Amino acid sequence: MAKPTVVVMPGDGIGKIVLPEALRVLDAVGFDADYVQGEIGWEFWINEGNALPDRTVELLEQHKLGLFGAITSKPKPQAAAELKPELQDKGYVYFSPIVSMRQRFGLDICIRPCRSFPGNPLNFIRRTADGGFMEPTVDAVIFRQNTEGMYAGVEWTDPPEQVLQALNQHSKFKAFADTPPGDLAISTRIFTRGACRRIITAGFEYARKHGYKSVTVCEKPNVLRETSGMMEEEAKKIHADYPDIELWSTNIDAQMMWLTKNPENYGVIVAGNLFGDIVSDGFAGLVGGLGFAASGNIGEEVAVFEPTHGSAPKYFELDPPIVNPTAMFLASAMLLDHIGETAKAGQIRDAVAAVVKAGKVRAYDMRMLPGGADVISKGAASTIQLTDAVIATL
Ligand code: NAI
Ligand code: MG
Repeated sequence: MAKPTVVVMPGDGIGKIVLPEALRVLDAVGFDADYVQGEIGWEFWINEGNALPDRTVELLEQHKLGLFGAITSKPKPQAAAELKPELQDKGYVYFSPIVSMRQRFGLDICIRPCRSFPGNPLNFIRRTADGGFMEPTVDAVIFRQNTEGMYAGVEWTDPPEQVLQALNQHSKFKAFADTPPGDLAISTRIFTRGACRRIITAGFEYARKHGYKSVTVCEKPNVLRETSGMMEEEAKKIHADYPDIELWSTNIDAQMMWLTKNPENYGVIVAGNLFGDIVSDGFAGLVGGLGFAASGNIGEEVAVFEPTHGSAPKYFELDPPIVNPTAMFLASAMLLDHIGETAKAGQIRDAVAAVVKAGKVRAYDMRMLPGGADVISKGAASTIQLTDAVIATL
């Protein structure tokens, strides 16, 4: 196999801390790759009016494989105010570069595995009837449609006349007819049949390959009859090709309640963009939270892997750094899986599991400490020490 080239995009804040640590782990596991730096994030917004510069897009187009840290996003007025003076009032509009990347390359399949590592003190526990507790093993993999739905960006405040006219065709819009357009904010939820089919098929294929017994479509078809309805309808059709796997259906609200009741019962979960974001964060919370949550954004050609967390700016400047790099390691393992390096991916996950289980080297989150410079003196490992422990285990 040709030596892969990975576009490395640390981005902002702690992305710049955890990504280099992941490269050390990839080296240690013997992954032979070339790395090229892709520029992305807030400083490129400020200086160029574009948080995802064209040169980075070109690198991804060329090499098809990306490892991404995190970016900082800020609300509209703040983003506009921070643009360098020469770029102010020139019509630049901030758009999250990771969302842009997903849309630009059609990275429509988002995979977020949420598996508990035995011995992680952050794992969810549940009370039992006799007053004790049990720790269910969570092994859920969320397939989130990544490019459509409420994150597609088709939205308005004070919608233009033609949009209002179109909406007026719908009988239910009568309820809003008297609202002045300036007081109307509208976000659309657009699903396409093709994208529904792709995410559902990806979920079933994964379930078959990895031995999951069920695929759960987690939407809200009783209310969102058109969009969630389409997802359910397509799932039923596609299920015909996977008779060995059960198809379940849950509503997002009920699913969030069942999260703490019987999370061990769920395997593969498929959802649209917003509900997938919600349910994957929910499951991630059961298995250690942001320090452990990794995801892959996969298109037909390009794939980008990232921890789910953001840039955590309040921890960026701490020296030594304290954040947990595990999510970034798990994202790197997903990248290895994606290109067929499954043995190396497994070695990384096994090394993480061993370090978690041994319990000697733990970042502040696993020590249940509020984050801050003093966590090291309270026994937490630094980001570097945790990486060293994983590498030593490898
Ligand atoms: P965040 O994920 O950056 O941090 C939230 C909190 O989670 C942190 O304060 C910290 O307590 C904890 N945390 C995060 N990563 C951790 C790690 N590796 N180890 C231990 N604890 C960790 O989310 P927040 O504070 O809401 O957003 C900060 C910035 O990140 C914002 O500008 C936001 O827009 C951006 N963001 C970017 C994302 C991305 O790049 N995909 C995703 C989420 C937020
Ligand atoms: Mg999220």
